[in-house]
Amino acid sequence: MTTKILMVCLGNICRSPLAEGILKSKIDSAKVFVDSAGTGGYHIGKKPDNRSILIGKEYGIDIEHQRCRQFSSQDFKDFDVIYAMDRNNYKALVHFAQNADEISKIRLLLDEVDLKVKEVPDPYYDDMEKFDEVFHLIDKACTAIAENLNKI
Ligand code: 4NP
Repeated sequence: MTTKILMVCLGNICRSPLAEGILKSKIDSAKVFVDSAGTGGYHIGKKPDNRSILIGKEYGIDIEHQRCRQFSSQDFKDFDVIYAMDRNNYKALVHFAQNADEISKIRLLLDEVDLKVKEVPDPYYDDMEKFDEVFHLIDKACTAIAENLNKI
């Protein structure tokens, strides 16, 4: 059976496309399906932010083919685990959820790792240094997720 994992941020152009690309690079696509979406609908159909594309390239992760989509209530049915990048995304997802089963699928991405920081910061109004920090935070969490999936 395939495990289905959805990465969620606000815009689906900066953080969650990186989370999708990074996790995909660490798992067997025959066993794990990974996608991403945004709680907001500002950039639907667009490519990821150029700065996310660039930082991905720097570390060998190609996300240029991805296209932005908005989270929908169907995602609660289609996915097993839904990772929020920050607490605002988490709250928005809880707000969309219609029952306890759906709420139980929502997790904060950085809860997968033991770090002081609990949220992947929104880098949209920041610089490449922030995108680099975001990449490494996501990468640590995705390593932990992939290790746990390999134990199943
Ligand atoms: P993301 O970053 O949630 O990591 O994709 C953002 C992208 C766009 C906006 C905010 C955050 N925006 O306000 O358009």
